[in-house]
Amino acid sequence: MSGPVGFDGRVVIVTGAGHGIGRAHAFMLAEHGARVVVNDVGGAVDGTGSSGAAEQVVQEIRALGGTAVASTDSVATVEGGAALVRRAMEEFGRVDAVIHNAGILRDRTFGKMTDEDVTAVLDVHLGGAFNVLRPAWKHMVEQRYGRIVLTTSASGLLGTFGQSSYAAAKAGLIGLMNVLSLEGARHGICVNTLSPTAATRMTEGMLGDLADRFDPRHVAAVATFLASERCELNRHILTVGGGRVGRIFLGVTPGWYSGPEPASPGDVAESIEEICSIEDYIVPRSGEDEVALIMKVLGA
Ligand code: NAI
Repeated sequence: MSGPVGFDGRVVIVTGAGHGIGRAHAFMLAEHGARVVVNDVGGAVDGTGSSGAAEQVVQEIRALGGTAVASTDSVATVEGGAALVRRAMEEFGRVDAVIHNAGILRDRTFGKMTDEDVTAVLDVHLGGAFNVLRPAWKHMVEQRYGRIVLTTSASGLLGTFGQSSYAAAKAGLIGLMNVLSLEGARHGICVNTLSPTAATRMTEGMLGDLADRFDPRHVAAVATFLASERCELNRHILTVGGGRVGRIFLGVTPGWYSGPEPASPGDVAESIEEICSIEDYIVPRSGEDEVALIMKVLGA
């Protein structure tokens, strides 16, 4: 039913691979021939503490005949990201793909969160992407090949009560993907994003009776494809969980045209239905596509 996705000799960094979804990514990548850098600080769901989770995963992968090394660097700092990429280079001499999956949760309503709750979450999810990808990018550009997989969430794309910092960080990753996919295309780098749902310690008690249907390996199969040579997709958000894989996208409508003179607020109020209609939307591939749509509406 399926062919190989191509990892011979390729080196993949997986952040947050000590538990849950990232752990499943690491196993599946190794099973398909990738050399894996298993990165994890081994903390609790809220990011506190540390353990030998990464080393444990590495031992298990090796026992199955795979190739992996551990890194306990925190992606939340510039130094940690640099050390992680250095580890891959020293051990394997290249970095072909990065799956940025590390994450923490500090759920609190907006009025109750502390400064530390905000920065801790932004630093791992969004800062982590910059901290790891900036040093990795250099190598990808030099070798004219790279695959980047980011991890967003339904919370970031659609909203979940009590998750403002988490959602903002996860939505920020979409902005990062949009730009890196444009900048990377000419260097052979594809950048895509996963929006997963899986039964892990992060979702404990949230998936109800069907939790056992949400095996993280469903997500790992898609991540492994996106990190592979076989993947030529760029700038896509794939939503994955329980064996269902779909796409989430941002659409833009032609909207309402007020004419060459500025409209009055009352004109806007009267046209709001037409403005908000989702008929005839397009899925822009960059900001330029929306400018082109505006020009078309203006008849320019
Ligand atoms: P998890 O808690 O099992 O795994 C996250 C891993 O990231 C942990 O092993 C943790 O130690 C590691 N980590 C945290 N901070 C780190 C740091 N500074 N440096 C390196 N590693 C660090 O959670 P799960 O569910 O596997 O989540 C994986 C990713 O998927 C996260 O980004 C999460 O936000 C995202 N996600 C998960 C969903 C789900 O249904 N489980 C839903 C939507 C998004």
